[in-house]
Amino acid sequence: MRILGIETSCDETGVAIYDDEQGLLSHQLYSQVKLHADYGGVVPELASRDHVKKTVPLIKQALAEASLTAADIDGVAYTAGPGLVGALLVGSTIGRSLAYAWGVPAVPVHHMEGHLLAPMLEDCPPEFPFIAMLVSGGHTMIVEVRAIGEYIILGESIDDAAGEAFDKTAKLMGLDYPGGPLLAKLAENGTPGRFKFPRPMTDRPGLDMSFSGLKTFTANTIAAQDNDEQTRADIAYAFQEAVCDTLAIKCKRALLQTGLKRIVIAGGVSANKSLRQSLEALATKIGGSVHYPRTEFCTDNGAMIAYAGMQRLKNNDVTDLSIEARPRWPIDELSPITSAE
Ligand code: KG4
Ligand code: ZN
Repeated sequence: MRILGIETSCDETGVAIYDDEQGLLSHQLYSQVKLHADYGGVVPELASRDHVKKTVPLIKQALAEASLTAADIDGVAYTAGPGLVGALLVGSTIGRSLAYAWGVPAVPVHHMEGHLLAPMLEDCPPEFPFIAMLVSGGHTMIVEVRAIGEYIILGESIDDAAGEAFDKTAKLMGLDYPGGPLLAKLAENGTPGRFKFPRPMTDRPGLDMSFSGLKTFTANTIAAQDNDEQTRADIAYAFQEAVCDTLAIKCKRALLQTGLKRIVIAGGVSANKSLRQSLEALATKIGGSVHYPRTEFCTDNGAMIAYAGMQRLKNNDVTDLSIEARPRWPIDELSPITSAE
């Protein structure tokens, strides 16, 4: 069985084809980063209009890359939420319409379930159950994953998501949008120990997190220092260290609380090398393991939507003719998979 996956929830148009026996057959990605760079963040209306231009050509390219035609596709999965409503509507309208025209089921996919399952596309996929650290530009959550669709949110950010904190802090430091990867690059030259940033909400029990105070701390540190290149790198280092350390402290608590030893990191910030190292160090200490997707599948992409869509298609989680777009959609509202192998 083969499924086409379409992702348009934010500023990336992603399309992929997944086969339940052969795996990923093709994937195409177009990033709108340049379009939004001048504005310092995603402009929703521009994002929607660009998805309108790019989605159909990318679908054609994905079919050509896999040497397939529409007749070879057994279902169409699209990101139905959470995300920017206009951007979601483009993918859901195109996805639903194609499914109708091709006479196959349409499968609405939860974007964060896509991220969470992205490591399943790798050679050593994690076994269930595990703790998922979902760290993206819009969400930061610690989720106990018992099986596909069985998600218990153990903690989440009460303000900025981790990626959002990276981006806003990067902006304060004069870096372009999206600043997360650029801040991480700058931090590579940073001096460990020169600045010590707080680890928010680690001095009290619980698994919720807060990252918005770190950008104020960064702003104050910048104001009190010379703005030379080494100081900028040192501040970037201290910020990144604080975010990664905070996530590692909370992850350790989640593992202790649940008795689990497997960790999955997913979402855009899972591309961060320092975060991977922090969680790998934690896993080594407790005899556990860490799983994350290849770098290109950490940020938004069509492959994770095609994979999650396939699991949902097999579970018959398909829609009638409605076009679904849910800008807010809690992940713990998803239903368990009952019929997958
Ligand atoms: O998952 P994603 O592509 O989009 C959302 O669903 O939000 O995540 C994008 C976020 C951005 O905030 C971006 O700055 C951040 O992931 N990001 C990183 C890195 N690569 C992407 N943050 C820190 N270090 C990175 N290497
Ligand atoms: Zn995402």
